[in-house]
Amino acid sequence: MCGIVGIVGTEPVAPQIVEALKRLEYRGYDSAGVATLQDGKLDRRRAEGKLRNLEAKLESAPLPGLIGIGHTRWATHGKPNETNAHPHATDKLAVVHNGIIENFRELKTGLESKGVRFQTETDTEVVAQLVTWEMHQGRGPIEAVAITLPRLRGAFALGFIFTGEDDLMIGARHGAPLAIGYGHGENYLGSDALALAPFTDEVAYLDDGDWAILTRRGVDIRDEDGQMVQRTRHKIATGSFLADKGNHRHFMAKEIHEQPEVVGRTLAHYVNFTAGRVEIPFDLPFDFKNLKRVSISACGTAYLAGLVSKYWFERLARIPVEIDVASEFRYREAPLEPGSLALFVSQSGETADTLASLRYASAEKQHILSVVNVATSTMARESDVVAATLAGVEIGVASTKAFTCQLTVLLCLAIAAGRARGTLSAADEKELVDALIGVPGLMSEAIKREHQVEMLARELSKAKDVLYLGRGTSYPLALEGALKLKEISYIHAEGYAAGELKHGPIALIDETMPVIVIAPHDALFEKTVSNMQEVAARGGRIILITDEKGALETDLDTMATIVMPSAHPIVAPIVHAVPVQLLAYHTAVFMGKDVDQPRNLAKSVTVE
Ligand code: AGP
Repeated sequence: MCGIVGIVGTEPVAPQIVEALKRLEYRGYDSAGVATLQDGKLDRRRAEGKLRNLEAKLESAPLPGLIGIGHTRWATHGKPNETNAHPHATDKLAVVHNGIIENFRELKTGLESKGVRFQTETDTEVVAQLVTWEMHQGRGPIEAVAITLPRLRGAFALGFIFTGEDDLMIGARHGAPLAIGYGHGENYLGSDALALAPFTDEVAYLDDGDWAILTRRGVDIRDEDGQMVQRTRHKIATGSFLADKGNHRHFMAKEIHEQPEVVGRTLAHYVNFTAGRVEIPFDLPFDFKNLKRVSISACGTAYLAGLVSKYWFERLARIPVEIDVASEFRYREAPLEPGSLALFVSQSGETADTLASLRYASAEKQHILSVVNVATSTMARESDVVAATLAGVEIGVASTKAFTCQLTVLLCLAIAAGRARGTLSAADEKELVDALIGVPGLMSEAIKREHQVEMLARELSKAKDVLYLGRGTSYPLALEGALKLKEISYIHAEGYAAGELKHGPIALIDETMPVIVIAPHDALFEKTVSNMQEVAARGGRIILITDEKGALETDLDTMATIVMPSAHPIVAPIVHAVPVQLLAYHTAVFMGKDVDQPRNLAKSVTVE
């Protein structure tokens, strides 16, 4: 994730900004920069690599100025070099950006057709040029930003300063976090409270769609309709910085909300946005072309991510996949053909059963590929190759952002496999990558349904048993929904393939047991509608999670219908994971459960 800092201050800001950026180093980055305004004139220093390279530049050529913005960049569009480092600047402004502008290509084409010349490959420069274009039409900075923001799609956060405006900074949040820090005669922008700690302990978190106008006198916060809004000011206890919950009650809530940002960051590690293709950032010790089989092994939620990927590998790469929960795989002595691929999925990289399975597969001369969130974990160290998820630290015992980042990585691997095996054309790949690029923005939209889900959770909390149904890649998601609900609310829940309903579970149906059906409008939708009719005919109460088309085509009386933004079927499981997670979270919160540390559970099960 990139890091953003901004200060409209009373002392030279460049050294302070660099200090604040150091507190964001944990987010990972490959270049950094600062821009300040001195007597209305903009100037920048940027450097590839670590902050010490930027400090060296500032040492030899200091940046004066009492207002400025700084950035640590994790490259998404364009190489991690000085040219692409933020802040990006024009004659009118400097801007820093965290996240992805999905529609940057069409916006860039539009500007180029008006004669705008670009210096970089980044999506950020498109934002800079869009606002500059509006200012060249005579609009002031605030109006120019107000006009530009609604044109941007994706999950992002932005910070601006403007030529000639010594007392004006603008910040905007849409899917990636951004906080306001309140000082005395100074005010601040930061990606999180950690970055603002050197300046203030009074912080407000912008909501999605908010944008803020900061001057030394104060901060005006506006919502996406431009209406003035108030956001709660929090006193941040300095001790909490190691793991800051942001403005959430629980880490699980924070981690659900972080998904657009961390999925976007993970995506950027595996996809060349400009070329619109998957680029696996490491050498593979095997060729997907020659693989006869893939075996996948994991536990819990990680296993369910693997189960989704079975559909993807088999459909996109036509490669047979066997998948087991690790506690079974390690003992069933599966006959594995030497030189095949054994794939392991784990957030912690320390789960005992998964590690034991990895060691079994290694002894059977398999190529070992692990999808892990902790790059220094035992599994990572014992694998031939590691496909990192970049979810950041996941504190909540119930895995959320790691799950959707695992899905993101696994889908990229499946696409790469399809390309290598000739089962995916360049056009197919482009379609799938475009769908992936849209995922962070769709997850942001999905999170906006949170209030409806929260209301529904109150109903769900009264249930003793809950059934989750799904078909295709929604089937593993049904299993994940049931796992989430039971592990944090302690309500008994079961996930089932919807087509299996008639083979037993339908005997359970009555008005006391909510049935949660996950059904995006895909090729299996009609089949799932029939299953819902079977449930309704027996008095079952249905909660349907679908998309706009699915909602329109369902004329059933449901307990509730949660309508997700329309998504390409291949990425639907990533987007629909959000309501599944939120439903479990709010049910458990309503029941007063210990959401982050549920009873009997550990974050990493390092024993058999
Ligand atoms: C998921 O919410 C649970 N916390 C649990 O099932 C977890 O996914 C499982 O223990 C695997 O952990 P890992 O991903 O660290 O290997």
